[in-house]
Amino acid sequence: MSKILVLPGDGIGTEIIDEAIKLISAVESLFGFHCEIEQGLIGGIAVDQAGSPLPEQTVALAKQADAVLLGAVGGPKWDQLDRHLRPERGLLGIRAELGLFANLRPAILFPQLAAASTLKEEVVSGLDILIIRELTGGIYFGEPRGEKVVDGKRVGFNTMIYQEDEIARIVQAGFDAARKRGGRLCSVDKANVLDVSGLWRDVATAVGEKNPDVELSHMYVDNAAMQLVRAPKQFDVMVTGNLFGDILSDCAAMLTGSIGMLPSASLNESGAGMYEPVHGSAPDIAGTGQANPLATFLSTAMMYRHSLERADIADAIEAAVSAVLDQGLRTGDIFSDGCKKVGTLEMSGAVINALQQTD
Ligand code: IPM
Ligand code: MG
Repeated sequence: MSKILVLPGDGIGTEIIDEAIKLISAVESLFGFHCEIEQGLIGGIAVDQAGSPLPEQTVALAKQADAVLLGAVGGPKWDQLDRHLRPERGLLGIRAELGLFANLRPAILFPQLAAASTLKEEVVSGLDILIIRELTGGIYFGEPRGEKVVDGKRVGFNTMIYQEDEIARIVQAGFDAARKRGGRLCSVDKANVLDVSGLWRDVATAVGEKNPDVELSHMYVDNAAMQLVRAPKQFDVMVTGNLFGDILSDCAAMLTGSIGMLPSASLNESGAGMYEPVHGSAPDIAGTGQANPLATFLSTAMMYRHSLERADIADAIEAAVSAVLDQGLRTGDIFSDGCKKVGTLEMSGAVINALQQTD
């Protein structure tokens, strides 16, 4: 039996994870695939209830689980806390504790949503790209970091640092993913300026020599940001460091119409993983019942595919999401004229219903 740890977190996190739990139990009765679900604390709610954004018990439960399903963390209530108590620290902490170095962020445009993108339909229709972001290194974790006073002035600093083996393993993850898709990998760096990127490019090139069946290209990050909004379909898989991946994946998210549609998987070397929607805790709509549960459902699909070895279940969930979009149901974030506006519960119920029909 597979063990899943759910971490609802803050804001709309609790609302969408409630729906994911319903989805998992529907999968259980439809496919006879049993999962044991535990709940844990992370983020602001963990600060409130346990005094830390990442309580030790959460780490222990996560290490025993086959997969972690996370909602979202953060909100204005905790913005004034010291940096080490901020909800975001919980997220960075669990990534580090579980060694989740490979963050997969697919940006797929469901054809039914082409009109919801801010970009012209012809630029985004058929879009299917995958951003692979290094998640446990780089400037997010580099030392030294901090703030000090130099010559009477406050100075803040971080360190962008990568070891060659860290670069090699994420770039290899990029090659492995590209091989299963369109066979093209674009490595993104800032090698014209940064030493750390010079090393990145050397290592990527060397790893490329061992993967001759995949076409490797390199691009500077500023150009990559521009190309993503100019002609995003030129990409198949992109691989990049932690900070660049953070920025580029938000950019890619908007191509698909709404960040409310995008799932993600964060994997470690043993294949265990954490799955979360790319959107955040959306404090502005928390508690109103308007949150889009689809990114969480698609993240749940990724969980079945990558950590629970049930690609068939993942396919069925994705097909059910698509079927509901065909029915014209839309939450506010993906709404367009002629569609039916629904809330979290109705959207979730419709997907579960569609899943029951497909089986
Ligand atoms: C993300 C988020 C996080 C990050 C924040 C919430 C710490 O923006 O997952 O992209 O910067 O990694
Ligand atoms: Mg981000």
